[in-house]
Amino acid sequence: MPENEAGDALENLLHENRKFPPSEDFAANAIATAALYQEAAADRLGFWAKQSRELLSWGQDFEQTLDWSEAPFAKWFVGGKINAAYNALDRHVEAGNGDRVAIYWEGEPGDTREYTYAQLTEAVKKAANAFEALGVAKGDRVAIYLPMIPEAVISMLACARIGAIHSVVFGGFSADALRNRIDDAEAKLVITADGTYRRGAPSPLKPAVDAALEAPGHTVQHVVVVKRNGEPVAWAEGRDRWWTETVDAASAEHEAVLHDSEHPLFILYTSGTTGKPKGILHTTGGYLTQTAYSHKNVFDLRPESDVYWCAADIGWVTGHSYIAYSPLVNGASIVMYEGTPDTPHQGRWWEIIEKYKVTILYAAPTAIRTFMKWGREIPAKYDLSSLKLLGSVGEPINPEAWMWYREIIGGGKTPIVDTWWQTETGGMMISPLPGVTATKPGSAQVALPGIEVDVVDDLGQPVANGQGGYLVVKSPWPSMLRGIWGDPERYKETYWSRFDNMYFAGDGAKKDEDGDIWLLGRVDDVMNVSGHRLSTTEIESALVSHPSVAEAAVVGASDETTGQAVVAFVILRGSAAEDPDVEQTLRNHVGKEIGPIAKPKRILVVPELPKTRSGKIMRRLLKDIAEGREAGDATTLADAGIMQLISESLKK
Ligand code: WTA
Repeated sequence: MPENEAGDALENLLHENRKFPPSEDFAANAIATAALYQEAAADRLGFWAKQSRELLSWGQDFEQTLDWSEAPFAKWFVGGKINAAYNALDRHVEAGNGDRVAIYWEGEPGDTREYTYAQLTEAVKKAANAFEALGVAKGDRVAIYLPMIPEAVISMLACARIGAIHSVVFGGFSADALRNRIDDAEAKLVITADGTYRRGAPSPLKPAVDAALEAPGHTVQHVVVVKRNGEPVAWAEGRDRWWTETVDAASAEHEAVLHDSEHPLFILYTSGTTGKPKGILHTTGGYLTQTAYSHKNVFDLRPESDVYWCAADIGWVTGHSYIAYSPLVNGASIVMYEGTPDTPHQGRWWEIIEKYKVTILYAAPTAIRTFMKWGREIPAKYDLSSLKLLGSVGEPINPEAWMWYREIIGGGKTPIVDTWWQTETGGMMISPLPGVTATKPGSAQVALPGIEVDVVDDLGQPVANGQGGYLVVKSPWPSMLRGIWGDPERYKETYWSRFDNMYFAGDGAKKDEDGDIWLLGRVDDVMNVSGHRLSTTEIESALVSHPSVAEAAVVGASDETTGQAVVAFVILRGSAAEDPDVEQTLRNHVGKEIGPIAKPKRILVVPELPKTRSGKIMRRLLKDIAEGREAGDATTLADAGIMQLISESLKK
């Protein structure tokens, strides 16, 4: 196993051997069956073709399931024609389900909105007409910078409907981060809001768009602004339009045209191992197939009766795949919540579950650990008996959090599905199947039927049970990324060059004695803070862009609540060391460059950084310090005395 930390985690997990077989009742009625594994193993491509035809409405059937002739660039469901928005909306109305609720939306201050499938279809048609009227055509890019309000989903589906490619930028990102993403994708239109509510107060959004577009040289022609919190905003005449005046005023007649199965659906930027975020590209047919398939089978979905709540933000891939697309493609009723879990009180989530009788909850371990800290008496005040299944995503879930989730939230009866996947994989890859798999606290366990993964050693050889290594995907999958926007070489190099003919996920993993997979966290320079991906290099670049900083090294140190926390080691320039506020200044600087989520939890001023003879910073040693351990093996350092020097400087 690559790093110390993963080794320790592995050691702890070896002692975890609880197992929870599905209840007879659940197993007898489960949507997923063990037969799926056999079917997929017998004819993998045939299996996916069948899933795709069953789950989606194709306007024109596909001729070939997979074209891998230009590997690692895949084409799925070749020759097929489809419209994503039609699949998520119109077809449910046509099938007589127009009155079913599509979205139960709950604003942070307690205001609510409800959209039936018929109403959501109409709203999306209007938005599609409005975007077209603003000059957006098939293939154009649209940046969506919105809070958790229904217009986020409406805008995404409107883009999909007309074949425009959306690039949703998380509302917590800064103006600079937004501008970088707008420029990289050459977006023509930006959809935003005046703001949102955060912890009981209005929180602005539009000023970041104004700041992002201040410097000339961008490609944006119009900005459509949703009025959400009613705070005053600056206005660029000619460029800015209110949503009410453009979208609400548009015609509700709009025919969904068919797009090629491989037509790009969206770009979503994610942190990689270099400073520059990668625009992960997803296309239509394969993405919809795998997300709908996993949503149905992993969540045991019954669209006519379930109320499904994915508590992620739309700005991350979980919000794309499991809020905006798959639940609606599957015709489910979803809950969408705008605010934080502790506003106006720490029982807000449980209150929402009680109110809407939520049956399926999909959340991140960091949230669960936070609730654990707040105490079990809080959820105990609410009726959570509607819950039948709980999902986890975003980072490894420790067995304690898993057990708490099951016992305290799930009443000791709900299956838990720990789903491993990534922005790049588009949809779930590894997860138990409820009703089929006997679950183990802390393990994502097995690849979904139709998906082939393994854990391999440095040379790419599968490891034996009981051993750790690198997680790989052995064959192309429908919702795989189709590339990095504008950078095919980086796509090949990042994912397909580490091992021959296998996708390198960047995660460490272990196989237990049963061959089940336990995820152990990233093995590269990507951190996972509260389930959000951050790049060490990106934060380092932000730090050194400040005049006070000569050099910086960032590590993700384990943190009880957030999984990992950003810890920065900096060497200051000249007189900056005398400035008592320098740490706060630097923290704010990172907030401005990237976004508040990237602000280091701790900034440690050091005289030197540990480097190898080739000049590579040994982050492993810094991580030891950040986690309060004795620094490990330092024999490859260019200067062996450095660690001593650093430790002493930090004691002062
Ligand atoms: C981590 C989020 C362990 C992993 C969907 C991966 C997980 C990264 C799990 C992708 C899980 C996600 N168990 N680790 N169930 N789910 N991860 O792109 O390190 O934001 O590589 O996608 O999150 O993060 P991303």
